[in-house]
Amino acid sequence: SQRAYHRYTDMLVIGGGLAGLRAANAAGINQNVLVVTKDVLRESNSNYAQGGIAGVLDPDDCFESHVSDTLAAGGNLCDHDVVDMVIREGPRRIEELVRWGTQFDSSDGEFLLGREGGHSRERIVHARGDATGAEIMRAVIEKTRKAKNIEIWENSFTVDLLTYEGRCHGAIIVDHHGQPVMVWAKETVLCTGGAGQVYRESTNPSVATGDGTSLAYRAGVELRDMEFVQFHPTVLYIAGSSRSLITEAVRGEGAHLVDAAGHRFMPEYDDRAELAPRDVVSQAIIRQMDKTKHSNVYLDLSHLDADMVRGRFPGIAEACGKFGLDITSDRIPVRPGAHYIIGGVAVDRQGRTSMPGLWAAGEVTSSGLHGANRLASNSLLEGLVYGAHAGEAASRSAAEKPHLLTALPISQPVHKSGEAFDVADVRVSLKSLMGRLASVERNAEGLREASDSIRSFAAYVMQHQFTDVEGWELQNLLLTASCIVEAALVRTESRGVHFRSDFPKPDDENWRRHLKIRVDVEGG
Ligand code: SIN
Repeated sequence: SQRAYHRYTDMLVIGGGLAGLRAANAAGINQNVLVVTKDVLRESNSNYAQGGIAGVLDPDDCFESHVSDTLAAGGNLCDHDVVDMVIREGPRRIEELVRWGTQFDSSDGEFLLGREGGHSRERIVHARGDATGAEIMRAVIEKTRKAKNIEIWENSFTVDLLTYEGRCHGAIIVDHHGQPVMVWAKETVLCTGGAGQVYRESTNPSVATGDGTSLAYRAGVELRDMEFVQFHPTVLYIAGSSRSLITEAVRGEGAHLVDAAGHRFMPEYDDRAELAPRDVVSQAIIRQMDKTKHSNVYLDLSHLDADMVRGRFPGIAEACGKFGLDITSDRIPVRPGAHYIIGGVAVDRQGRTSMPGLWAAGEVTSSGLHGANRLASNSLLEGLVYGAHAGEAASRSAAEKPHLLTALPISQPVHKSGEAFDVADVRVSLKSLMGRLASVERNAEGLREASDSIRSFAAYVMQHQFTDVEGWELQNLLLTASCIVEAALVRTESRGVHFRSDFPKPDDENWRRHLKIRVDVEGG
């Protein structure tokens, strides 16, 4: 039988992607840090990042230009001060990664810089061509494993936060033996990443199930902007295969988007053509698919130098090669897929959430950097900057607190066990439902249908007493999907990645503002 136990730590970091590990490394060397991740450390969206990190590194570039590109993509919903802070801090954080051992692609000691949609010039550092995230995480994981004050628990699922009288005191974690642990932490940093798995088509690995947004919501922490879900325009679309990202850097190097008839359509939608921001490109692709009655469009690189293409995009060449596609000559079938959850736990510039004792960084948050549409390659940057800020602030705060001597009298929720049912089946149904009714194009009728279906799933899923990760993830997916749908229903306008076909224009008078969601947990 499994026996619950207590564990005390100075800082608990939930999530082992770039933001989480950056936060862990910000703690003082005499503070204990426990990093928990539900899979192995390598399994995170950070690891799969292809394009890179945006930063002002070229002497001919300037902060003002990166700031104005970010604001322009963000649909009037970015926080200007946050944008300015993150972008000015970017180069320093990128240099820090280099000191920690990351090998970015360079020539004669200068970074090679790529270009992506919405950027007015080349400013994206990359590594091993299109394996940027994997190289960064290799170096950061190595550094973290060497740190004597940081302990890492892999395959350990965070079920819920421990909260008492409105403060976070750690979390309930099921460790890799399946034993429940009450982890009591002076400060907790939430870095659980995204929720692409809410949708059928997604670039995200299967771990991206909205766990952080859900456990924060259940604890009464404020969420913001959940209606803004970014779709990446180009996800490899081959029936029966798992979806994989085709980096935007491919278009940065000059690739064209063509429809089934071979027609290059982007110039008809935007002057910036293939390098328009993502919301514009994804919406144009959906329209072109509709016009041509075809389930996808194509990326065409055949006019580019074949050696350059193979050298710059080795990972994509290999992934497509498995399906007999030669990316230097064959057209690559693609369509938009859920890529990044812009909304999340509201944080201030230090990564402070609405709940004392709880900090957050990275994709799980809504920091104000991305507004209504994230600019390509700004998210690893955000993870680094906010990981450092949240980690430093949490560490300072923990240093002022006395050691915990006892567990607090937290009451356990009472669960009712429901009928057995097929978890995988509900997960698949939810993903298709969200893809059909709450993705790139939305309207009130579809969103109401999505809302009703989620409620009917929830009626039995939420009552069920799960004892495994699949069940907990399903509950988190349902909760995150519900936040997305309810927020999307309320925002009766189109802005950034949120396109309502029944309200196709931005409505600055009523909607140039954030939507906050928070459950009232007072009184249980
Ligand atoms: C890509 O490589 O296209 C993804 C970059 C990003 O999402 O920021």
